[in-house]
Formats: sequence, C-alpha cells, structure tokens
Amino acid sequence: MKIGIDEMAFATTDQYIDLRELAKRRGDEPDKYTIGIGQDQQAVVPPTQDIVTLGAAAAEKLLNPTNIKNISTIIVATESGIDNSKASAIYIKHLLGLNDFVRTVELKEACYSGTAAIQFARGLVALNPQETVLVIAADIARYGLNTPGEVTQGAGAVAMLIGANPHVLAIEPTAVSYSKDIMDFWRPLYATEAMVDGKYSTNVYIDFFLQTFTRYQQLTGRKLEDFAGLAFHLPFTKMGKKALEALLGQRTDPTAQRMRKQLTAEQAYCRQVGNLYTGSLYLGLMSMLQNGRIQAGDRLGLFSYGSGAEGEFYTGIVQAGFATYLNDIQADLDARHQVSIDEYERLFNAQLGMNSADQQFDLAGDQLPFVLAGQRDHQRIYQRNQ
Ligand code: CAA
Repeated sequence: MKIGIDEMAFATTDQYIDLRELAKRRGDEPDKYTIGIGQDQQAVVPPTQDIVTLGAAAAEKLLNPTNIKNISTIIVATESGIDNSKASAIYIKHLLGLNDFVRTVELKEACYSGTAAIQFARGLVALNPQETVLVIAADIARYGLNTPGEVTQGAGAVAMLIGANPHVLAIEPTAVSYSKDIMDFWRPLYATEAMVDGKYSTNVYIDFFLQTFTRYQQLTGRKLEDFAGLAFHLPFTKMGKKALEALLGQRTDPTAQRMRKQLTAEQAYCRQVGNLYTGSLYLGLMSMLQNGRIQAGDRLGLFSYGSGAEGEFYTGIVQAGFATYLNDIQADLDARHQVSIDEYERLFNAQLGMNSADQQFDLAGDQLPFVLAGQRDHQRIYQRNQ
C-alpha cells in the first residue's frame, strides 16, 4: 500500500520587507543578503498572528467536506510553541471546527519535527488505512533585531494530509535518521529569540546531510542519478547550495546540472518568505513541484535537518496529477504588501512573547482568516477574523 503526502497547502502573513532595505539599515551590502545569504524578502509577523493562526490558515486551504471526515489525528510540529503544556493542535482543531473525536498533539525537535510528524503519521495510516493524519509544520523564526541571524528570519505554516494512495508523494520505506547532542541552535525556556552558533550550525548541517545520504546509498544501492531532484531544509537558500555543492564537488555532468536546476526551483519561495523552521523543507518541496520540471514517477530525495541536532534523508515518488493538490503559492505571495523597516521593527517588538499582562490587539489591519485577538487571564484568545 502506498502511503504519503496526499495534499499540501502553505500560508504565511500578508506583509513582507525587502531585504535590500534591511541591509542598508544595518550597514551591510545588499548583495550580502541577496547573493551571499540568498534571501530577497522576509515575512513580517504582526502580533495578531502566530503558529496557531498560520497553521489553521494553511490547513483550511486544503480541507473540504469530504477529506475533513477522515482526519483521525492532528500533529503540529513546531519550535515556536505558544504554551509549555497545551498543544497548539487543540486550538487549531477548534478554529477549524473539526469534531472532538480527533487526536491532537504537538511535536518538537527544532526544524526536524515536521519530518518526524510525517513518519509517525505513516505508521498510523499503515495501522488504519482509512484514516488521514493532518500534519502542520508551523513556525516563526526569530533571531532578534540587528543580529547576524536577522536576515534568516521568516514565518509560515505548511499543512499536509498524510494518507493511503496519496496524490502528491508516495513515501518510500527507507529513511536514514542521524542524531547527536550538539549546541548549534537552541532557545531556552526564558527566551523568545533563538540562540545560535551560526557558522558551526552550517557545518553540522552539511555533515549530517553527507552522513545520511551516504548511508542511504549504502542501504539501497541507489545513486544520485536515480533522483530527479533533492529537496533540502532551507533556513536560507544558500544553505541548500552549500550542502548540494559539498556532495557534487566539481561535477558538471547532466545529473549534477539537473540537481542544481532543481535546487533553484526549490529555493524560489524561500527567497520570498525566509525560514519557516519546521516547514522550510516542505515549502521547498512545494516550490520544486511547482517551479521545477517534475513529472509523475520522478523520485525526489528530502533532507530534513533540525539543530540540536537531528537529520533525516528519505525519498518519495511523485504521483500523477500532483499539481492540483497544492495551493497557488506564488499568487498568495504576490498579493502581500511591503512594509517599511520601521514598521517591521515596531511589529517585531509588539509580539505577545513572554508578556503575562492582559492585552487586546487592534485587529483592523489583519486580513488573514484567523487572528490572535489578545490575552486574558493568561489565556490566548483566538478567533476567526470578522
Ligand atoms: N556580496 C556577495 N556575497 C557576500 C557579500 C557581498 N557583498 N558579503 C558577504 N557575502 C557572503 C559571504 O562570503 C558569505 O558567503 P559564504 O557563506 O558562501 O562564505 C555569506 O555572504 C554570509 O556572510 P557571513 O558569513 O559574513 O555572514 P554572517 O556572519 O552575518 O552569518 C549566518 C551568516 C551564519 C548564516 C547567519 O545569518 C546565521 O547565524 N543564521 C542563522 C543560523 C542558520 O540558519 N544556520 C543554518 C544551519 S542550522 C539550521 O538549518 C536550523 C535552522 O533552521 C536554524
């Protein structure tokens, strides 16, 4: 029985900054951001949006009266949790109006947990093939104003239905996981921004990719030639290039050229949104499916990386008609509006964060389907936007 990704949808905020403007404000060369790091725009998050509202918005794009009935479980993968106890999946289930006989849980291991959620979902579907699991990878990547990581921030959510006889990607059995206790990126309980050893993290990422891909080849006997493309976790687009080039070296043969072309296709949306942490690999997959020359029957490789650190390489076969099971991401990105660096900084500092006081946000400027209206008695108040 084939099990895999049946449908996918992406949601982000409706505002962004131009990173050339940010570079000028920070006294950096714009080319450092657009070429050296490989990012052009970055999603800006108002205080009325968080992983719950973005996750619900992504999921709503793919739900319909038929597929909603088969959902047995919602797994939200995130490292931007809004509560240390209660799972964000419960809030999302309520916002979406799903019935109460649905299992709801949240999963964490930095940017890797979206992949863990998919693998766990495959197990649930194998046990009960009539069930569908809604996996939502949602994050807000925050490093802080005027930090080296600032240019690699971003936000958004990818929602995926995992089921039998999938329409997008049938996941193949062999997956290679690799983990080590490493302090390359972390966020203590008292911090709203990540702590990171940036250069170290890029080296660990490359090492984990080479380790998992090499072992995958040993286990399966497959070669790079067997792949139409490799999709990478993209904390920033240059990271994927660094990893791919570490594998290709000086190769210029047709396979190497195909891999480079598909990476460019994978990078298209990340360039405009930034890092989604858990969702980045899956936004990259959607980007490759929509912008690369991908055909039914193609084998794609996926490299998932989460700091701390955990890596996984696994593969899937693209299914016939896949294009109709993804939302039109470029249209959504084109509909966003640009904000100034001053406005971005104001919104960055207006987040609820660790604030325990009651708050009521002004919702007038937020056009997204779900909003965080404020906080009362230490409880977040979510609602459908009026
Ligand atoms: N024109 C073109 N390129 C330029 C340039 C210019 N004018 N000026 C500089 N560059 C290039 C540099 O040569 C460099 O390129 P290489 O990496 O290919 O050598 C690149 O721009 C970046 O320059 P710096 O190394 O000087 O940049 P930095 O010190 O400001 O830090 C960073 C860059 C380490 C990525 C930092 O943004 C960071 O810490 N980001 C967050 C950490 C991160 O994303 N790590 C990725 C792995 S961890 C992970 O994947 C999990 C996760 O999601 C966080």
